[in-house]
Amino acid sequence: MRVVFLAATYPAEMVQFTRGLAEVGAEVYGVGDASKQSLSKELKGWMTDYLQVPRIMDEDDVIERVTQWMRGKSIDRVLANWEPLTILAARLRERWSMPGMSVDTVRGFRDKQLMKERVKAAGLRVPKSKRALSEADVRAAAEEIGFPIVVKPIAGAGSADTYKCRDQAELEAALAATKHVTECSVEEFIEGEEFTFDTISIDGVPAYENIAQYLPKPIEARSEQWISPVIITVKDMYQPRLLPGVELGRNVLKALNMDDTFGHMEWFLTPKGEAVFGEIGCRAPGGHLVDQMNWTSDIDCFREWARVACWKSFEAKAPRKYNCGIVFKRALGEGRITRIDGLNAWKKQAGRWFVDDQLLRPGSRRRNWKQTLVSDGFVVCRHPDWEEARRLSFAAATGIKLFAA
Ligand SMILES: Nc1ncnc2c1ncn2[C@@H]1O[C@H](COP(=O)(O)OP(=O)(O)OP(=O)(O)O)[C@@H](O)[C@H]1O
Ligand SMILES: [Mg+2]
Repeated sequence: MRVVFLAATYPAEMVQFTRGLAEVGAEVYGVGDASKQSLSKELKGWMTDYLQVPRIMDEDDVIERVTQWMRGKSIDRVLANWEPLTILAARLRERWSMPGMSVDTVRGFRDKQLMKERVKAAGLRVPKSKRALSEADVRAAAEEIGFPIVVKPIAGAGSADTYKCRDQAELEAALAATKHVTECSVEEFIEGEEFTFDTISIDGVPAYENIAQYLPKPIEARSEQWISPVIITVKDMYQPRLLPGVELGRNVLKALNMDDTFGHMEWFLTPKGEAVFGEIGCRAPGGHLVDQMNWTSDIDCFREWARVACWKSFEAKAPRKYNCGIVFKRALGEGRITRIDGLNAWKKQAGRWFVDDQLLRPGSRRRNWKQTLVSDGFVVCRHPDWEEARRLSFAAATGIKLFAA
């Protein structure tokens, strides 16, 4: 099983997927923009060979270089688990007539307007939405859909340039702030709670499923720096209240022609109990959600994804044992971290339910909280009882404070 794996070295999770591929017996041909010397010995050990490219986002250039590099070798899979490279992987597959999702199929997971059109065509509930290529388009779409609306980039990530507009004045402010965005999706704003539906599918049918709740919703978490975003996996994901989301998710995978990989869907649960589609990607969730999924069931989804992608087999039993909460922290002040308050008290409170602490330590430079959900680090806990997991997570959100100067 010879696998070309794009972005084998970055983001950090990809290294774990590279490990997973090696562990299920694949020969991994990793591609990335990091230099070979900068890779850890472990990572080099998991790869049969590695190609450094100057610009991993330059699709045409990467296609030429990888084609040269692989000349004369048969290849069984081209894989990518990082959103911006999913189209590139499909282009390589098409070029080499390989199995896996086509460019057109992947576009259904990448283009926010197209995905909604396809999901809607399958009879599923999506927000009303319009593609907009100019300010005039956005205004016309707002008029047609009616406030409140959301304006966001078609190929967005991390809730960047995403605005809720309740009226014309807020819309004008959003337009002024998004002049650099060339293509937008204008959507009906859906009230309700927001969840994920994460899957590893075989022939489009989930062999593994997960639900996590965003507390608060990403659009709010990204708007105020003082918020410590909390995400908790739901142990009891098949409770009646969430079943509409599970059903929606499974149908979305069918509608979009998923094959053998991760799906990361976001959806809304309205006050009336209806599940409404948000968005989906055909790749692993970021922000350590894969780690949370692993801690929820004591499994290794990095390896199981690799097994599915290579061999169409998911072997782990995945009993849902815990609700696993992650809490991202943002320091008060700019510059370098000077102090952490409340961490030891929280760890003591969490006791055996404490899982991980990756907070930046004093002396480290602060990260840009708008650019990375991980911000200035995070703590993780888990508990079999939802209320307890929630209480402990929020105790970290309010009780742990990082300072910078
Ligand atoms: N139609 C909508 N109604 C209500 N809220 C929405 C809507 N569209 C987007 N949002 C909010 O904005 C957030 C970001 O939107 P979306 O998920 O489409 O973009 P993204 O940048 O790909 O997000 P991320 O990378 O953070 O998952 C959503 O998680 C949700 O909180
Ligand atoms: Mg999103």
